[in-house]
Amino acid sequence: MVGATDRPIKAYSLSLVQKVVRLRAMESALDYHTARALLEWQIELGATDAIGDAPVDRYALPDTAPKAKKPAKAQSATKKPKQVDPVGVAKSAAQAAGTLDQLQAAMDAFDHCELKRGARQLVFADGTPGARVMIIGEAPGRDEDREGKPFVGRAGQLLDRMLAAIDLNRTENVYITNVLPWRPPQNRDPKPEEIGMLKPFLERHVALAKPEVLVVMGNITCQAVLGKRGITRLRGQWDQAMDLPVIPMFHPAYLLRQPQMKRQAWADLLELKARLEGKA
Ligand code: URA
Repeated sequence: MVGATDRPIKAYSLSLVQKVVRLRAMESALDYHTARALLEWQIELGATDAIGDAPVDRYALPDTAPKAKKPAKAQSATKKPKQVDPVGVAKSAAQAAGTLDQLQAAMDAFDHCELKRGARQLVFADGTPGARVMIIGEAPGRDEDREGKPFVGRAGQLLDRMLAAIDLNRTENVYITNVLPWRPPQNRDPKPEEIGMLKPFLERHVALAKPEVLVVMGNITCQAVLGKRGITRLRGQWDQAMDLPVIPMFHPAYLLRQPQMKRQAWADLLELKARLEGKA
């Protein structure tokens, strides 16, 4: 039934449309024209075929629409590399070492110091672990780098003579290491960041070697261990670091260049001897 004001609906769907419109109008108490307008609108949208007998309220159905994918994380090329904290790595590696051998292995495995790449090998220590005296130098030179032991070059030979003068030697009662275990290129001075990075190893080294006193050789070692510079002023004066008494002395390499300073070095050795004999 198409009224005069009605626009014609395509013939192929007309009889069906009329039936449906009437039915829906009866069911929902819509007036005929409103229902027809709604149906026309659906047909215009392309909804021309009845799929099921009963109407479906799709708003009441569970949400089964595929979830929108989260945008992929930034590609690995643009990913920031994870920042490594070398001091943190050194601290944990040092703390995990329960023996001197384990500490040596941990230092050998430490890959965050550039010096390692330019050096032939790790120079860990020499002498008697557990000795009352622990001597700390700066860093290996060419000879130490080659032999893998601290203080074996000319400065080391002078050190041995100095120690012998107060009855100390590596085979019985002295233990020796350096602030840095790798030779700096061209024997340049160690950089503060290198010292800071490797200090956890030095601290652990001292804790595991358990000396009674520390002897720190030269300005750079004073700075690393005591946090102070000015060896000329500091030498021969007992200080405290790493829970131990510390005596700074001129570095033997300096004494080779300035032999007139050996007099003060001798006084400092006597001071050390007196301390060991319980007289200082
Ligand atoms: N100088 C140092 O400080 N350490 C060495 O092992 C050799 C030279």
